[in-house]
Amino acid sequence: MLKLYENPSVEEVKETWINEKGIRLFIKREDRIHPYVSGNKWRKLKYNLLKAHEDGHRTLLTFGGAYSNHIYAAAAAAKEAGFQSIGVIRGDELADKPLNTTLSFARDNGMRFHFVTRENYRNKREEQFIASLRELFGEFYLLPEGGTNDLAIKGCEEIVDDEVRSFDFIALPVGTGGTISGVISASDKYQQVIGFSALKGDFLIDDVKNFLSTYQHNRPLSLNWQIETDYHFGGYAKTTSKLINFIRQFEAAHDIPLDQVYTGKMMYGVYDKISKGYFDEGAKILAIHTGGLQGRRL
Ligand SMILES: Cc1ncc(COP(=O)(O)O)c(C=O)c1O
Repeated sequence: MLKLYENPSVEEVKETWINEKGIRLFIKREDRIHPYVSGNKWRKLKYNLLKAHEDGHRTLLTFGGAYSNHIYAAAAAAKEAGFQSIGVIRGDELADKPLNTTLSFARDNGMRFHFVTRENYRNKREEQFIASLRELFGEFYLLPEGGTNDLAIKGCEEIVDDEVRSFDFIALPVGTGGTISGVISASDKYQQVIGFSALKGDFLIDDVKNFLSTYQHNRPLSLNWQIETDYHFGGYAKTTSKLINFIRQFEAAHDIPLDQVYTGKMMYGVYDKISKGYFDEGAKILAIHTGGLQGRRL
C-alpha cells in the first residue's frame, strides 16, 4: 500500500576520538525509506493503512500540532494509499493565519483541517470528543496523535532486522514511546535499547511500560532498555546554541542531516555518553535515524 522507496542502509559514523576508544558507531538511515513518509512514520503507518483498507475505510483522521512530522507524513501516506485525510490541529488561532510549510504540504496532499482550541485538543482520546468528530465528518479510521497504537508498534518492530540484532546498543529518540516499544519488543535480550527523550520529565518510562505490557500481553516485560531524560534541551521542540552547533558540526563532518527536535538530541546524547565513558571498549552502537527532516530548522 505504501511504497518503500529505499531500503534503509546502515552507515558507519567515523569519528577518530570515538574509534580511539575502541568503540564503533553506526546509523540506520530510516529517514531514506520514503521522501515524505520518512523513518518511524512509515513504520507506524504501514499496518494502520492496511487495517483501514481491510475495514473498508475511505478517510483517515488524525491529530497533531502545526509542525507535526506525523501530520505531514499522514497526509502524504493517505494520498499515496488512496484515502481522504482530516487533520485535527492544536490551536484554533491558526485557522486565521497563513499556513506554515508543514500544514501547506499537508493541505497540498489533500488533508482537510479542523482547528481546535488547545483546551479542546486535550480531549483527543475522549469518546465523546471522537463521537463529535464523527458527527462532523462521518466515518473515519482514527490514527492517534503521533500515530502510536498497537499496529504502529508492530510496524516499528520491523526496524529491528538481523543486521540491527548484531549491535550491542540501539539508540533512538523518544516522543510518545511507540517507536521504542516496537524496537524493544523485537530486540534480543542481550542488546540494550537506549531511548533519548525529546521531552522534559520522566513520564515516558511509564508510558513505554504501559505500551509494552498491552502489546506483549503474556510475555514478561522486557528489561533491556532505558530512557535518558537529560537531553531534552529545555523541553519539546526547544533548542540551545550548544545543540544547534553540535548538529551543524555533525552534518558537516558526516553529510547526514539531523533535526533539532528528535534525532539531533539523540545523537548529542550518544556522543555525550561516549565521551563520559558510558560504553566499554569494543562496544558497537547503532543509532536509528527516525526521519523528521521536514521539521529541520537550523
Ligand atoms: C522524527 C521523529 N523521531 C522520533 C519520534 C519519536 O517517536 P515516538 O513518538 O514513537 O516515540 C518522532 C515522533 O514522535 C519523530 O517525528
